[in-house]
Order: sequence, then C-alpha cells, then structure tokens
Amino acid sequence: MNRTTPVIPAEDIQRQKEYCAELRSLNAQRPAPPRAYVDTYGCQQNEADSELIRGMLADMGYEITGTDQGADVIVINTCAIREHAEQRVFGNVGALVHGKRKKPDQVICLCGCMAQEAHVADRLRQSYRHVDLVFGPQQLWRFPEFLRRVLLRRGRVFETAPVDGAIAEGLPVYRSGRLKAWVSIMYGCNNFCSYCIVPYTRGRERSREPEIILKELKELAEQGYKDITLLGQNVNSYGKDLEGGWDFPRLLEEAAGIPGDFLLRFMTSHPKDATEKLFDVMARCEKAAPVIHLPFQSGNTRVLTAMNRRYTREQYLEKVAALRARIPDVVLTSDVIVGFPGETTPEFEDTLSLIEAVRFDALFTFIYSPRKGTPAAEMDDPMSKEEKSANFDRLVAAQNRISLEKHQAYIGTVQRCLIDGLGEDPRHGLTARTAGGRLVHLDGDPSLIGRFADIRITDCSTWALFGELDAEPS
Ligand code: SAH
Ligand code: SF4
Ligand code: F3S
Repeated sequence: MNRTTPVIPAEDIQRQKEYCAELRSLNAQRPAPPRAYVDTYGCQQNEADSELIRGMLADMGYEITGTDQGADVIVINTCAIREHAEQRVFGNVGALVHGKRKKPDQVICLCGCMAQEAHVADRLRQSYRHVDLVFGPQQLWRFPEFLRRVLLRRGRVFETAPVDGAIAEGLPVYRSGRLKAWVSIMYGCNNFCSYCIVPYTRGRERSREPEIILKELKELAEQGYKDITLLGQNVNSYGKDLEGGWDFPRLLEEAAGIPGDFLLRFMTSHPKDATEKLFDVMARCEKAAPVIHLPFQSGNTRVLTAMNRRYTREQYLEKVAALRARIPDVVLTSDVIVGFPGETTPEFEDTLSLIEAVRFDALFTFIYSPRKGTPAAEMDDPMSKEEKSANFDRLVAAQNRISLEKHQAYIGTVQRCLIDGLGEDPRHGLTARTAGGRLVHLDGDPSLIGRFADIRITDCSTWALFGELDAEPS
C-alpha cells in the first residue's frame, strides 16, 4: 500500500528481535530469571505502549513483576499532560535512588511523553544520575537496542531528539488483561490545541494499516477478549495518510463485522472530525458500544478559538444533537479545562451552561496547567488561582449532581453488562460494566467473571451503579 507515513522496515524490527534473543541467552545464564517492572502514567495510549515494553522485556527473558522492589530493570512510562503528572514522576523517580543503592546493577529507564521534553531530559541528565536510559515514545520500538547498550557498555543512554515518528509493526505484546484489550490504530496528533503538549511529545499523526489492525482484532476476538478499545489521540483522523479511502467509520464498521461476542470502544474523538457517518456506523453496528468520549474543553466560542479547537459552542451542540438523534441513550463523556489563560468567569459560566444543556454521563475536569513550548503558556493569564479553583468547584458540583441524576434513571432497568472483575467492597463481590461503560457493583460468584449478563439496577451513587443478576449469564 502506498502511504505518506514512513513504516519501519521489517529488517530493522528483526534486528531488535535479535537483540532480544541475545539478551535472552545472557539472562538464561543467570541463576534465576531477572525481573522487570513497568510503571505507567497518563492515558490509555501509554498503557498500550507499556504492554509493548513488557512484551519486549518478556522476550528478553525478564519475568514481569508488579513492584519495583528488587527489580533488575525498572521502566517508568511517563505523562507530560499537566504539571502535577510530571511532579509525581519526578518524586517517584527520585525515590528510586534508595533501591538502586542497594542494588547497583539495577537499570532504571524513563520513557513516554516527558522524555520528549528537552527541559526534562536536561534535568534527568544533570540531577537524576541514577536514571540510565531515557527515550521518547517515537523510539519505543528500539528499546531492546537501548537496553542492550546500557547493559553491555554500562553507560547512560539518552535518545530524546525530536522525531516525527513512524509505524513499527510486529513488536511482541504482553497484555495485562484477558477480557479488555487496547489496540492503537494511530499515533501522534496534528491538531496543536494551544494548551496541549501531545503534538510535541507524540509526533505527527500516522495510521496503522487497516489489514494489520483488523487481523489483530480478529485474533483478540478469537482469544476471547470481550471489550476492545481502539486508541488514538484523535481516532477521527484515522486513514488520512493511507490510500484506499480509509477513514475511522469504515474501520469501525469492518471491525464490528468480525465474528465473536465482544464490544468495541474508541478514544478519543475530536469533535471537529466526529461525523454523522461515524454516528450512523455506531447506531448500525451492534458491536460498537453506545458510548463516545467527545471532549469539548470549553463552552465559550472565544475560548475555544483561543484554544485552537476549530469548532464553536453551537457546532458542538449540533454534533451532540445529531448523535442523540441516532442513539438516544448514548453514554456521553467529555473533558473540560477550567482557567484557560484569559478565560473570564462569565466565559466559564458558558461551560457550566453547556454541561447543563448536554448533561454528560461523566466529565473529566482539569484546571489549566501551562506546558512549556505551547502557545497558551505565553498568553496572559490574569485570573487568580483562587478564582480558578472556585470555578472548578462549581463545575464539579454541577456535574456530580448531573451524574447522580443520570445514574438514578438506571434504577429499575436491566442492563446487559460484562462482569469484569472482583469488587473491593465485600458486600458487592463483583464489578461489571454496562455497554456504555458505566461501573456496576453486584454480588455473585467469581466464576462469572468474563461473562455478559443481564443485571437489574437497584441503586446508585454519583460514581457507580449497584445491581443484581436478572437472569443466568450467557
Ligand atoms: N487527544 C485527546 C486528549 C488527550 S489529553 C483529545 O483531544 O481529546 C486529555 C485531556 O487533558 C484533554 O482533553 C484536556 O482536557 C486535558 N489537557 C490537555 N492539556 C492540558 C493542559 N495543559 N492543562 C490542563 N488540562 C489539559
Ligand atoms: Fe492535545 Fe488537541 Fe491533540 Fe487532543 S487533539 S492530543 S487536546 S492537541
Ligand atoms: Fe500524557 Fe502523553 Fe498520553 S502527555 S496523556 S501520556 S499522550
């Protein structure tokens, strides 16, 4: 297939596999298999990347563990989306120095979005000398080569130069779940929302080939995965760099045609590119879960323009109406930023009125965090922290009320849910998810995990539903 995005040649991937084999035979000579720990911050894309890192580590002969204590290799896969996320990483990476003192041959790696920020790489180089390897997300497929370099030469490795990125196929995946799976369909972002670091850390938009994605999905369905999420920073841009007329609705429809009892979700959709064609496919395909995460960021058109979102408040509301006309009970979730530079309280109130008009099922609310190198970080930001916090609290209170009201409407209904795990509360031994992704607590036998079941909803809180089995699970 002709395409504009570079694809890593198969022989380069093969070379990485040879490095894995070389390390595997070195590791096999040790008295016990060495252990590797991967810690993940940030979005599902990072979770999916961590499954590839674990896959490569397992291929190198490492046993994957759930703790950094005594691990031979520690990988911290980082997120740069907000200041707070970065501070947590610096704190936790700093604390690793104690473990390394006790185990000097331990290798500490830092990858993910923070690695791609020049000021972070400088700080790690100078002040975090116990970190051995730093590499950005576009270099992930070269991890075996980098780790081998650290292990065999015992020097520090920094691979953090900015790169647009390519498509690397054929890397081993170590999936953490048996029911839910993430599948990246594209990487990078070209949208450059003025507050956002992602286009700088993840490079340019590029799509995986549909045949490869569909083959992976077919394998997951055959392995019994029940809940599969297609991932991209903006899945609605899928296919722009491919030939053959591919777009996201077509991919979703073909994916929904794969035999098996599973649901398909996707994250994230930029509203400017969410089309009626997509909504039609969602409405038509039973396997497409009736849920969409459609971040609106602000309810005020001036602020949206300053954010470079390229839609107006009215256009957003029209999209929601077009979606609900096709799927009336669609579960709608969103992201919103409070305190964007220059946002006034009356402008913030447009955000409040938008959530009252739309009534989202759930909202991810963030206070604006300046990111070095983005246009918004240079804008005047006169509003005090206190005023931003007060606005934020008003938004959270309004959304909590709406979420509770939305949940109350489920009481008495029967929902087909996937029973997906053990609950933490002894009175409700199991957890489940509705097709729309809402959390349900229920009592039942752990042998039901992995089944779809009809659950009668009996009670709710702001955050979750409570229910009981209505019929024998299928
Ligand atoms: N690609 C996704 C968003 C990824 S980031 C999309 O476009 O929908 C997830 C959310 O973090 C964003 O939707 C936004 O609400 C928030 N966010 C991004 N940058 C931020 C910043 N600098 N400060 C506060 N929140 C931010
Ligand atoms: Fe960031 Fe905007 Fe791209 Fe989402 S679409 S990752 S918010 S630049
Ligand atoms: Fe964070 Fe990078 Fe995802 S900045 S939100 S890990 S794309």
